[in-house]
Amino acid sequence: MPDTTVEAAGPGGAPASALDPFGDDFLRDPFAFHTQLREAGPVVWLERYGVWAMARYAEVHDALRNWATYSSAAGVGLSDFRKEKPWRPPSLLLEADPPEHSRARKAVARAMSPRTIAALREDFAREADSLAAELLARGTVDGVTEIAEAYPLRVFPRAVGITQDCREQLLAYGNMAFNAFGPRNQLQADSMAQVQGVAAWIAAHCAREALAPGGLGDRIYASADEGTVTEDEAALLVRSLLTAGVDTTVIGLGCALDCLARDGAQWQLLRGDLSLAGAAFEETLRYASPVQTFFRTTTREVEVDGITIGAGEKVLLFLAAANRDPRRWTDPDRFDIRRRAVGHVGFGYGIHACVGAAFARLEGRGAAAGARAPRGIPGTSGRAAPPPQQHAQRLRLPAAHAPDTRVRPAAGAARPQARHHRWPRSGST
Ligand code: HEM
Repeated sequence: MPDTTVEAAGPGGAPASALDPFGDDFLRDPFAFHTQLREAGPVVWLERYGVWAMARYAEVHDALRNWATYSSAAGVGLSDFRKEKPWRPPSLLLEADPPEHSRARKAVARAMSPRTIAALREDFAREADSLAAELLARGTVDGVTEIAEAYPLRVFPRAVGITQDCREQLLAYGNMAFNAFGPRNQLQADSMAQVQGVAAWIAAHCAREALAPGGLGDRIYASADEGTVTEDEAALLVRSLLTAGVDTTVIGLGCALDCLARDGAQWQLLRGDLSLAGAAFEETLRYASPVQTFFRTTTREVEVDGITIGAGEKVLLFLAAANRDPRRWTDPDRFDIRRRAVGHVGFGYGIHACVGAAFARLEGRGAAAGARAPRGIPGTSGRAAPPPQQHAQRLRLPAAHAPDTRVRPAAGAARPQARHHRWPRSGST
């Protein structure tokens, strides 16, 4: 066990903790550590990195809302862009403050308007039905690779306007980009090493000529045509979609399957009432928080419950801990798809709240459509296993501890050999 002592030894008498939120123990099972941080106080000094942590809902929510004090422009990872060169040109959205952020956000929000999303609905549903039919015909399937990964990779690139097979590139790039938010540890080095050449591939596929007409990427370039963003900015905005749009939903769907595999009663509930699909995905975002944390940097001295945080300091916001704060949620450690999870910060909150949320929700509901298939999917098999391992923002299931998320077809359907589920990029941890 790591040293988990929480004592009043931080700046100004703040509670301090020796916990390493990027360490293996923490990542393997973060939720007990989240409780410690929440109970230590509204703001806690993390000695190891010399940064602040907020793990309670009220403070996390407040910081997300108050972008003028809690800035994103110095990066939303541990690295401080004012002191270190970012590993790539910063995101115009995620790593920017108004007014620059507002202009960029407008271009992306326009490209992903409710009308555009509504137009994708049918395509997503059709793709889900077709995937479900294929899987049912095959029999026992690997829920993570064959649903959580396969489905977003079928619908997302096409929606953006990428027509090539891009599975490896998008998965590797997302993996690296999210790991880059953490410290320079082995995990980060490994994911950087895996991605040689992929950054160039991504850049090439953000260019206007690489994108099919009518897709989300092309629609972002429409803002360049109107002069509200430059051509170079449009390319970086397409890059934002490619960075944030795959890994997140793969993990989100993986988490949903994982939660349902562990709790047969909830799965049966969903099977019995498919109108709960949206709520089940929302509860997954609250309960499992596929994106666990993001940093902010203070622009001024700020007082939080009597503790002074200086200007220019990094603050790690534990979205996942906020999503299970008993001060905000009843029975927070219970996965309950009938819960009204409204208000969770799984998609963030405020000006940086996930711009792809509607898209992700469409995928979340779409994936549940598998249960609509003629014979239906009668159940998942789950077995007791240690909770998923998490790194910084992303959740992964190490192969050795992976819960069994195989999905079985209904009686009468073909049953080929069961194949063991293996979480894809666990080798890189
Ligand atoms: C389950 C899936 C997803 C989760 C859990 C998720 C989570 C988040 C969170 C927590 C933020 C807030 C970041 C912050 O406050 O600093 C965010 C922002 C963002 N997300 Fe997502 N996301 C998901 C899917 C997507 C998809 C599908 C796309 C693109 C199609 C996307 C694109 C973005 C972008 C571009 C931002 C930056 C927005 C800004 O800074 O204004 N996300 N996401």
